[in-house]
Amino acid sequence: MSWAKEFVELDKKAHDRSSFDSGEDELNDFIKTKAAKHMAAGISRTMVLPAASPLPDGKYPICSFYSISPSQIERQTLPAALAKKLPFYPVPVFLIAQLAVHTEIKGQGLGKITLIKALEHLWNVNAHMKAYAVVVDCLNQAAQDFYTKFGFEILCDNNGRTRMFMPLGTVGQLFEEE
Ligand SMILES: CC(C)(COP(=O)(O)OP(=O)(O)OC[C@H]1O[C@@H](n2cnc3c(N)ncnc32)[C@H](O)[C@@H]1OP(=O)(O)O)[C@@H](O)C(=O)NCCC(=O)NCCS
Repeated sequence: MSWAKEFVELDKKAHDRSSFDSGEDELNDFIKTKAAKHMAAGISRTMVLPAASPLPDGKYPICSFYSISPSQIERQTLPAALAKKLPFYPVPVFLIAQLAVHTEIKGQGLGKITLIKALEHLWNVNAHMKAYAVVVDCLNQAAQDFYTKFGFEILCDNNGRTRMFMPLGTVGQLFEEE
């Protein structure tokens, strides 16, 4: 399966959600049954990278996706050196709520591309409405290893998941022109 050039907002009519398989039931269930509802409810946005070619019914398989939303963290969960610069009320952050690649095309660099696109998207949002950091709740150790590789640091436990973060200042270094 080769992928299209651009990430686009999930569209139930254009994208075949049923064939998506990340190998993780929770993520599969999210894209199949929740992502569109959450967008309609105005609580998160899901962007998908469709396959380059459609299925016989005209819909495009989903190669990878990410979902983002605003969120907040408690100041005291941050390392002391960072926390001391912040006020004593909850700190605004952006959450990468979901991110997954189809199992058929894992290991070909698409996880990296999808994460960079999600960070670029959030960096652009940050130009209009600031947040302190990007956070992600890791589904398992493999996800934690993946985000560690790209510079995310452990923040705290969040309902049994390891929550990791990257300050927006660090994200900006990836996209700001010299
Ligand atoms: C984690 C996931 C997104 C990685 O996607 P992928 O397309 O296989 O990853 P890539 O091919 O882009 O790999 C990018 C880099 O991350 C590394 N990597 C990939 N999976 C990794 C893992 N589980 N642990 C450590 N490193 C990993 C690769 O070795 C690669 O390193 P390199 O650039 O030095 O070669 C994908 O396996 C997935 O969808 N997993 C199930 C859902 C999931 O756990 N999502 C995480 C959010 S909770």
